[in-house]
Amino acid sequence: MVDKKFYALVELPYAYNALEPFISEAQLRLHHDKHHAAYVNGANAILERLDKARQAGTDVDMKATVKELSFQAGGHILHHLFWQNLAPAAKAVKEPGGALAEALRMSSDLSSASRRSSLRWQPAQKVRAGRRSPGVA
Ligand SMILES: [Fe+2]
Repeated sequence: MVDKKFYALVELPYAYNALEPFISEAQLRLHHDKHHAAYVNGANAILERLDKARQAGTDVDMKATVKELSFQAGGHILHHLFWQNLAPAAKAVKEPGGALAEALRMSSDLSSASRRSSLRWQPAQKVRAGRRSPGVA
């Protein structure tokens, strides 16, 4: 099972130079081929180590191993999501739509209402008046 890979570095959904001038080809190659690949390799190395320990019947520090695997797999998944949410400028969506657009509109409405209302943010000194710690001006 040692040669089996659990995670794989998926190819980008666009060419390495497709995001220029915002992200250079060199930056994208480094970020995908080195940085993202390191998370994939790291996660696979942990799974290989677990498999070997399982086969040998040896103990593993599961708390540390799970923490390390969470970090490596999380880095892999977040990078994968990042790549999927980028697009060449020519294919970029100019305005959000659907649920995102609705959430942004609601957020903007709440922000406007908050600015108009008496529930505005107050400095901490005013809110905590009379409950200050000794020595605090
Ligand atoms: Fe990164």
